[in-house]
Amino acid sequence: MERLDKFLCDCGAGTRSQVKAILKAGRVTVDGKPERDNGRKIDPQIQQICLDGEALNKQGRTVVMLNKPAGYVTATEDAKEKTVMELLPEEMKHWDLKPVGRLDKATEGLLLFTNDGELLHRLISPKKEVPKIYYARHEGTATQADVAAFQEGLTLGDGTVCLPAVLEPLGPGESRVTVCEGKYHQVRRMMASRGMPVAYLERQQEGALTLGDLPRGQVRQLTEDEIETLL
Ligand code: URA
Repeated sequence: MERLDKFLCDCGAGTRSQVKAILKAGRVTVDGKPERDNGRKIDPQIQQICLDGEALNKQGRTVVMLNKPAGYVTATEDAKEKTVMELLPEEMKHWDLKPVGRLDKATEGLLLFTNDGELLHRLISPKKEVPKIYYARHEGTATQADVAAFQEGLTLGDGTVCLPAVLEPLGPGESRVTVCEGKYHQVRRMMASRGMPVAYLERQQEGALTLGDLPRGQVRQLTEDEIETLL
């Protein structure tokens, strides 16, 4: 537990006297209720503290990597399905993290989260071209003609044009696919368009970041150096 005014200062909300004024003005809420008492004891691990409606945390800019298991949708909330947010440890649930791009419910592997809107935007922009590498198990076997079609940029059945991508056949029914964009069901649709429907898909790498030995279902915070490599 800690004092609300100290927490606000640590989050960069202002100096001690500015924080006093902010509290007096009723701009701070604790779990949705306005709080004016600067000496109020709070636990930021389990309570949500907002300033002008924006959640605060002491993290500053942060990026978290999840090794996503199948069965979770990439959404901040969902009425029916389990969401990737449920996999975040309790303390991270208060960091205002948003998923960076999306993985389908059935897809496993590397999914990033950040609390930084600008960083989020940069990472999902196709202009930044952060390559994403997927391992796919699929019907059929990729041929050199498939490799060339991916290289040229596929046009999907509905007319969607994909940026050039790299298809590496790994053996019968197995391929590695590298794409620089994140269209809806992109890899599955690309593979299906070449007669190779995907049965299993795992994102293994994003830019220079790999899952390493992070177990399925677990998360870890990236270091500043790792964040820099993404930019
Ligand atoms: N492409 C897909 O088809 N699904 C994913 O989850 C990610 C990329």
